[in-house]
Amino acid sequence: MKHLLSTEHMSLEDALLILDTAEEMAASQERSIKKLPVLRGHTVATLFFEDSTRTRLSFETAAKRLSMDVISFSAKGSSLSKGESLKDTAQTICAMGAEALIVRHRADGAPMRLADAGWIDVPILNAGDGRHQHPTQALLDAMTMRRHLHTGGNNKAPVGSTLKGSHIIIVGDILHSRVARSNVQLMSTLGAKVTLVAPPTLVPVGIEQWNCDVMYDFDEALAMQPDAVMMLRVQHERMSSAGGGFFPSPKEYQRAYGLDAARVAHMKESTIVMHPGPMNRGLEITAEVADSARSVVTEQVANGISVRMAALYLLLAHGQEIEQ
Ligand code: NCD
Repeated sequence: MKHLLSTEHMSLEDALLILDTAEEMAASQERSIKKLPVLRGHTVATLFFEDSTRTRLSFETAAKRLSMDVISFSAKGSSLSKGESLKDTAQTICAMGAEALIVRHRADGAPMRLADAGWIDVPILNAGDGRHQHPTQALLDAMTMRRHLHTGGNNKAPVGSTLKGSHIIIVGDILHSRVARSNVQLMSTLGAKVTLVAPPTLVPVGIEQWNCDVMYDFDEALAMQPDAVMMLRVQHERMSSAGGGFFPSPKEYQRAYGLDAARVAHMKESTIVMHPGPMNRGLEITAEVADSARSVVTEQVANGISVRMAALYLLLAHGQEIEQ
């Protein structure tokens, strides 16, 4: 692995290597002293051209837990053309000693361009590009699901275990969601069955090529008794105005596609409720469900640190032992 850009062509072997390494990282995070010395003296930079709370903090925390130094850059509304600003920024930051770049950009494909253009020669980790990919989010979701599937709770999953035999439904704003796209690809590589549920206006063109089923009725999908239900945020900022004509009204959306206690009551006991955050409480998920025992949202956040530690370690430690 030279970069972590996408889950599209990620092999089962690489996915399992990252997930198994993430479990080792998670074990180290249960100790009172969480910092591992393995990447001491190395520097990583976060380049965020689009807003973020948890992904950026999670990557920074992961790097610090590996004893790395972190340089942070965030840009808002740069007047330079995207290609130029990206190239200049990346070259400047590499000249300051960054050995890997963690990149979030509103343009689809920006991190891939950085990896391929030959402007710089360091590993690139994609922290979300446009509507395209968000590989570390899919990996943390897979880690969370794998744990629940194999242990019935939030415990270490067996080495090499997959998601074979499980069923996940992903519900909501698929159209604008890099999380959905990355998850469909990774979960199917890991052997899960994936069903997407959304209003027809929020389903992307070309969905037939994705490795999943599509349904329009949330209650019918829930009747299949999935093992996990992942709710997606309605991405108002990617719509022209609130709702943007994608659905009649927030109330209608909530009625047809929102997860509330009445819908949860139809799930089997072991079904988990996931959300990548940030949540629109009262729209795609009620506060009651978000705060309920079934919700694994905070586990997702914690697993995100382990997965990002694993990714940085695998890209930068060149086979050094995690524990020295
Ligand atoms: C997601 C993202 O940025 O794509 N959030 C995240 O990384 N935790 C999903 C979202 O913004 O709705």
